[in-house]
Amino acid sequence: MKYKACLFDLDGVLVDTAIYHFQAWRTLGKQFDFELSHEQNEELKGISRVESLDKILHWAQFQATQEQKDIWLKEKNETYLELISHMNPSEILPGVLTFLKQLKDQGYLIALGSASKNAQIILEKTGLITWFQAIIDGNKVTKSKPDPEVFLKGVEALACSPADCIVFEDAQAGIDAAKAGGMKVVGIGSSAILFGADKIIPSFNDIQVSDLLLL
Ligand code: G6P
Ligand code: MG
Repeated sequence: MKYKACLFDLDGVLVDTAIYHFQAWRTLGKQFDFELSHEQNEELKGISRVESLDKILHWAQFQATQEQKDIWLKEKNETYLELISHMNPSEILPGVLTFLKQLKDQGYLIALGSASKNAQIILEKTGLITWFQAIIDGNKVTKSKPDPEVFLKGVEALACSPADCIVFEDAQAGIDAAKAGGMKVVGIGSSAILFGADKIIPSFNDIQVSDLLLL
């Protein structure tokens, strides 16, 4: 087999949690009179909670103490946790389950590589957890995408090498991370905003496992 494993980002690839992050940041922003736009939310995809708050405060031109930031990070996550507490399998994005089944049937290993510290709970709520042989999330890494750490740890957990692996990503930071780690990468979304991927697809309805051999 040309490749042995597939590594998936979570938010925006397997489930659409960007909408919940957006709502939670908008709720928090009210405290310092800031309304996050959809374009700005796009820039928060793939980056950690701490970096997201720093970007938001920069856009809002608001100086905050570390103590205040810690409180806001906690509050944002509490709002987010409330929003995702209602998630269920119907929120798995189109084509994902069929693709995962094809991968499993053909003997590919499957891992998660996400910046989210809430990945475990989302995988449980949606029932996706059973598909993964390794889960690397925001609790297991020290460096955020575009650093390749999260994917390299996934590769290691599967006892593979980067050249054996294909990453699926919806964020530019994630595509850059996969490339920096020496992996092939399939971008999920639009070629108008994602650059440097080996292939771009609108959704998992637009790819078959046999297409991976062409990467
Ligand atoms: C994903 C999302 C980001 C989010 C990050 C951390 O990468 O795309 O928008 O900031 O996870 O999520 P967390 O659940 O730990 O706040
Ligand atoms: Mg993502």
